[in-house]
Amino acid sequence: MIKVFINGYGNIGRRLATALSSDKEIEFIGIAKYTADDKTKEALENGFDIYVPNGTVKQFKDKGYDVRGIISEAILKSDIVVDAAREGGGFDNKKNLYEPMNKAAIFQGGEERHGERSVADMIHNSRVNYAKAAGKTYVIQGSCNVSGMGRIMQPLIEKFGDKIRRYDVTLIRRWADLEDSKEIKDSIEWDKNPHHQDDVKDFIPTSNLYVDAYKVPSRMMHLHQMVIRFNGKAPSKDKIIETFRTEFGVAILNSAKGTAAIRKKAMELGFQHGDTNMVHIHQEVLKVQDDIIKIAYSDDQTGMVIPENHLLIQSMIFRRPRHEAIKKSDRLFQMTKKRMILEEEFG
Ligand SMILES: NC(=O)c1ccc[n+]([C@@H]2O[C@H](COP(=O)([O-])OP(=O)(O)OC[C@H]3O[C@@H](n4cnc5c(N)ncnc54)[C@H](OP(=O)(O)O)[C@@H]3O)[C@@H](O)[C@H]2O)c1
Repeated sequence: MIKVFINGYGNIGRRLATALSSDKEIEFIGIAKYTADDKTKEALENGFDIYVPNGTVKQFKDKGYDVRGIISEAILKSDIVVDAAREGGGFDNKKNLYEPMNKAAIFQGGEERHGERSVADMIHNSRVNYAKAAGKTYVIQGSCNVSGMGRIMQPLIEKFGDKIRRYDVTLIRRWADLEDSKEIKDSIEWDKNPHHQDDVKDFIPTSNLYVDAYKVPSRMMHLHQMVIRFNGKAPSKDKIIETFRTEFGVAILNSAKGTAAIRKKAMELGFQHGDTNMVHIHQEVLKVQDDIIKIAYSDDQTGMVIPENHLLIQSMIFRRPRHEAIKKSDRLFQMTKKRMILEEEFG
């Protein structure tokens, strides 16, 4: 049994809590709440122990929320902390809490890999560098888009190797998550310097990858348009589809109208948190043109990284071989079953 604490209970933290608290190998210490809002009630109803910053216990108790203790006590009890702070907050947690207490931690994709606020020396992608995380103290789990790109690129690299000249990816990013209360602007915005390109190169350094990112007014998943240029004629569509037929966390759909159709189906089917936890290749728009393949796939922004964090714990702490870890995560997240259901629904 390992003791795990989740520092943060936002869109990612609450999903991590659902998953990790139901893993029998984990003694779930609880979650951190910083604001005494309705989400505290939700966490209590889910049976999680709540830890809060020093000096705020009264604030929570005054609102009728039962608090187990302060965050530093929970971290002291834990073997590893999964940090789920909003972007950039993980660095201060590392300096103020994890390092002084000598605790291992996983950070999310909004943290820095380089520079003064760097939190770790590697970004994990379970399809690419799972084994490299074994025994590490600090690792960043790549963001949803970065995880999705690795999941598509690595099988292609293994099958077609140096026949691939370059990848150009246009990320069409959702504005906010379904649970977010922030306003969605009627605008399409661009990112001068998307972090995804460097993040992917951290675990696939040889890739000739170029990323452009645009944010659109939607809450329903991201869509990636990946253009892959080959040396000479590109492989057939069948060969490309075959490459992904048994890939963990990749569904091949043929008739989804858009990202909302998939998200709504996941909710209607009662998938936990309305997540599919995977990327979905949209076969009907996959095109082969001379030396180019165009693949469009949607990426479940909130769900993607949850099994990735679960796999990462299995590498860092249990040092389990990847194929065994995949089996375990599949049992917990029911990914193979979900994939089969989605492929039937959108066949
Ligand atoms: N949302 C996504 O689709 C997505 C996908 C992949 C990766 N990520 C990454 O995951 C991380 C979390 O994103 P999110 O969407 O879950 O953010 P979020 O919904 O805004 O939640 C952030 C949480 O951080 C908590 N918090 C405040 N101060 C904190 C501190 N010092 N330490 C730890 N937690 C603190 C907040 O708690 P209170 O509510 O109690 O104030 C809040 O619940 C980011 O790095 C993000 O880039 C997000």
